[in-house]
Amino acid sequence: MPLEQCEIIELPKIQDCSGNLTFIESNNHIPFDIQRAYYLYDVPGGAERGAHAHKTLHQLLIAMSGSFNIILDDGRSKKTFHLNRSYLGLYIPPMTWRLLNNFSSGSVCMVLASDKYDESDYIRDYNEFVYATQKQGS
Ligand code: TYD
Repeated sequence: MPLEQCEIIELPKIQDCSGNLTFIESNNHIPFDIQRAYYLYDVPGGAERGAHAHKTLHQLLIAMSGSFNIILDDGRSKKTFHLNRSYLGLYIPPMTWRLLNNFSSGSVCMVLASDKYDESDYIRDYNEFVYATQKQGS
C-alpha cells in the first residue's frame, strides 16, 4: 500500500481533572474491525521489533506508555513516525513493511489488529516484500 495511506489517527480523548480516557470503536475511529489486541513491553534498550509486512492485516499501533519510532516502507520509499501519546494511533494498512525501534524505557506498544494471528499472513523476507509490491504495481 502506498505510504500516503499510513496515517496518525487522533483518537477521542475525554479530559478530566481525575485523568484522561480514550476509546476506540471498530470501523468508526479506525477503518477496520478489531479481532485481536496484543502489546509489546519490557523491550530492552536498543532492541528492534517488527521487520515484516502483512499480506492482508490492518493494524493500529499506540504508545500506551513511553515512546518509540516506527519506520514504514511501501517498497518505494520510507517514512519514520514517532509515537509518544496514548490518544494517537498509527494506522498501518496491509503490504507495509514496518520496523519498530528507539523504545524508551518502560514503553508499551499496543497493537489492534483486523484478524487473528496467522503466520501465513506474514512476509518476513524484505526482498520478497519488495518483489511482491513491484508485482502489485505492474
Ligand atoms: P512478531 O509478530 O514477529 O513480533 P514483532 O513484530 O513484535 O517483532 O511475533 C513474535 C512471536 O510471537 C512470533 O513467534 C509469533 C508470536 N505471536 C503470536 O503467537 N500471536 C500473536 O498475536 C503475535 C502478534 C505474535
